[in-house]
Amino acid sequence: MPEALRFLLGGEVVTAGSDMPPTMTVLDYLRLHQRRTGSKEGCAEGDCGACTVVLAELDGPEGQESIRYRAVNSCIQLVGQLDGKALITVEDLAAPDGRLHPVQQALADHHGAQCGFCTPGFVMSLFAHYKTGAPSDPESLCDTLAGNLCRCTGYRPILEAGQQMGQGPDQFSATEAETIARLKTLRRRQALRHETAEGRFLAPTSLDELLTILRGVNWEDTWLLGGGTDVGLWITKQQRRIGTIIHLGQIAALRRIEILPDEISIGAGVTYSDAADAIAALHPDFAAMLRRLGSVQVRNAGTIGGNIANASPIGDSMPPLIALGARLQLLSPEGERFLPLEDFFLGYRKTYLRPRGIVAKVIVPRPGPDTRFAVYKIAKRFDQDISAVLGAFQVQLDNDRIAAARIAFGGMAAIPQRAHAAEAALLGQKLDMASVEPAVLALAEDFAPLSDMRASAAYRLLVAQNLLRKFAIEASSGQALRLEAVS
Ligand SMILES: Cc1cc2nc3c(=O)[nH]c(=O)nc-3n(C[C@H](O)[C@H](O)[C@H](O)COP(=O)(O)OP(=O)(O)OC[C@H]3O[C@@H](n4cnc5c(N)ncnc54)[C@H](O)[C@@H]3O)c2cc1C
Ligand code: FES
Ligand code: FES
Repeated sequence: MPEALRFLLGGEVVTAGSDMPPTMTVLDYLRLHQRRTGSKEGCAEGDCGACTVVLAELDGPEGQESIRYRAVNSCIQLVGQLDGKALITVEDLAAPDGRLHPVQQALADHHGAQCGFCTPGFVMSLFAHYKTGAPSDPESLCDTLAGNLCRCTGYRPILEAGQQMGQGPDQFSATEAETIARLKTLRRRQALRHETAEGRFLAPTSLDELLTILRGVNWEDTWLLGGGTDVGLWITKQQRRIGTIIHLGQIAALRRIEILPDEISIGAGVTYSDAADAIAALHPDFAAMLRRLGSVQVRNAGTIGGNIANASPIGDSMPPLIALGARLQLLSPEGERFLPLEDFFLGYRKTYLRPRGIVAKVIVPRPGPDTRFAVYKIAKRFDQDISAVLGAFQVQLDNDRIAAARIAFGGMAAIPQRAHAAEAALLGQKLDMASVEPAVLALAEDFAPLSDMRASAAYRLLVAQNLLRKFAIEASSGQALRLEAVS
């Protein structure tokens, strides 16, 4: 049965029926249908943050729910992704009597209000920061604001406002119990089937429902949707349209992280923001790199499964996962399969995924006591930039010799790829700069990188070689050689 989408806007339940195309972005919906024009379109590709809105979602087990607030880019979120959530826009922040929200007041007090394009996005990013109770030190605030660009003035007054805005109850806290009650009424026990003349938006709530849906769809005319941080751009930049979108974000099993004795299992629908803490417990280096993947808004929506399935040669999560020996669980109506992640990539953007197949989870082994691991991202900017080269290294030591090595790079080949010749050259060597030199040279056998707008082939190879040297120095000394721009 066709159903309307349901979500909260301005605290009230809103429904969107068969006149809501499945590829409608939240930003277009707000500006064109709701005439809420505070959120702006700067880039329509998730880069500038002018369109930042906040999603409030139920969190925690049934009966003990709280609300989680997350900033996302409305230009690359689809209206279907709002189903069951509360959408908060810059128009909602001042109290009904006109009193400014503490975030707005702090921005006004510190002269942090800039032009009408970037300011609403800054306000909403700081609002999400306020509601999550994140620390208000400059580093955390810079992280929060890395996805909000202003090309003309400065960030200093905005950061000062962030440090002064404080924390604590606000008008949203006062109505939180009511919001929770309303959100509970929107909970679905069965798949959403939103059908329109222009296509369908389906959101199964379980893997069984997903498999049933997958069996029935015309696969050639179907997209799977994770967080939409890649798919959103197909719509806004390439103007692509499709018959059926299957959203995976409502399937609890795909959003689960399981910490097991020997491994951690991360559901393909887990966002980077949610994965980061679990990964940090095992590999702080990996989690630190994730902080450089996109912006907070991108990491709040983008999923590990989407990054893997998208199979970009410069996708950041794959090299570290390959170096760690991760494997995938793949599901389709034909059944389940497990596969080492490195075998998943068959060629440029070609994967082992069969029609109607999904990535269900990625399983990452725990490191042994004698393993050393590091991952380094090289990009032109520290924040929110695509990698030119990303190298990940794991070695296992036996006494002071290398007994096993796994090295993987992004940006060096058509797929995220292991460096087998360099790995072989490391075996039996000590882990220091002189001893790894044969392996450094062997990287030239492993890779013949391309030149493109991000880096030349010669630069890429030299950087890859220097990263291996850096790893040897850091892993043997226990000292970080970091320069911030190339951490
Ligand atoms: C501003 C910006 C900055 C970015 N920066 C980076 C960066 O620094 N590093 C980086 O690596 N990426 C970056 N990205 C790309 C993007 O965020 C990632 O690739 C992200 O992981 C995609 O996940 P998603 O859930 O949003 O995928 P979606 O956009 O929903 O989907 C991507 C692809 O994967 C498929 N898919 C999704 N989930 C599954 C699944 N479970 N099984 C099978 N297929 C699936 C979809 O059909 C689609 O083909 C950036 C994107 C933006 C907009
Ligand atoms: S309009 Fe630039 S991030 Fe959305
Ligand atoms: S973009 Fe708004 S002041 Fe620079």
